[in-house]
Amino acid sequence: MFASPNSLFAAYKDCFPIGTAIKNEYIINHEYKDVLLRNFNSITPENALKFEKIQPYEGIYDYKMADELVEFALSNQKLIRGHTLIWHEQIPKWVFSKGVSKEVMLLRMKKHIDNVVSRYKGMVYCWDVLNEAIDDGIGNTLRNSNWKVAIGDDYIDHAFVFAHNADPDALLYFNDYNLEEEEKGEKAFRFIKGMLERDIPIHGVGFQGHYSIYYPDVVMIERAIDKFSKLGLEIQITELDISLYDFSDHRNDIYQPNTHLIEQQAIVYDKLFEIFREYKDIIEGVTIWGISDAYTWRDNYPVSGRKDWPLIYNTDLSPKKAYYNITQFSKNE
Ligand code: GLA
Repeated sequence: MFASPNSLFAAYKDCFPIGTAIKNEYIINHEYKDVLLRNFNSITPENALKFEKIQPYEGIYDYKMADELVEFALSNQKLIRGHTLIWHEQIPKWVFSKGVSKEVMLLRMKKHIDNVVSRYKGMVYCWDVLNEAIDDGIGNTLRNSNWKVAIGDDYIDHAFVFAHNADPDALLYFNDYNLEEEEKGEKAFRFIKGMLERDIPIHGVGFQGHYSIYYPDVVMIERAIDKFSKLGLEIQITELDISLYDFSDHRNDIYQPNTHLIEQQAIVYDKLFEIFREYKDIIEGVTIWGISDAYTWRDNYPVSGRKDWPLIYNTDLSPKKAYYNITQFSKNE
């Protein structure tokens, strides 16, 4: 018995919500809106809730874009994930103005979190409170971000407590990339365990999931999910996409996706969703970072202006092999 190929989220109704990251343009474009409504039951604003958009100047809040997406989600019975409160990127310069005390920085953080989380209290069901806080290198656990420099390591605990106080029912996530890698995963695991020991209100770990067909191996991903499941928290895959390039491959002369690579990609998507289904008791959501290959941040990362095809719909919005693979799975597995 195969699940219906007509709706991705319907195929996963016994597993977890299936999300996508969106821009405001999508909800006024009929074709995008149609694909979105039919296939996804969770929405993450790709940029509209980031600090630089919401509070570009101190005390001046601009909720226009975010309000539109939240209203769209709620009026269409979609879940909405909040992304992201505290991050070192996409943040306006004023936040880290020089010569400011720890107390002032904490107040800036608190005001921002209070304001944003309270506005969407009871609407945004889950927040990536923190994004990319773990250091990539060897040694240090935490990234030496401006937040850490200005406040100290406890900036993280404070952020979660502020968010919890603003909406005690919201699920609070610790979101990061490369948690599949041994060393970074271990640092994150230990840090989050410490937060739990300190009774910090944290409910989930977000694996960004910016993968490629070459790396990481699905075995690494499964191992990481298994490891983090031992924390007793929920897990979400928050920003899934599967690039056709190896991260170190900086070629810039490919203008059409090679069919063999598209096949490979469909296999990786398939294997990954099989693992996600296996762990459905602790995986509480899988969000794909965009809808179609017509627009993806991967077109500019790691090589600016180089086309990539990491998503499950073609540029013309027709479903790719990956879409069929993850939608049509055996219910009896
Ligand atoms: C990171 C962030 C996302 C987004 C992507 C690129 O993963 O968490 O918000 O900016 O990079 O689109």
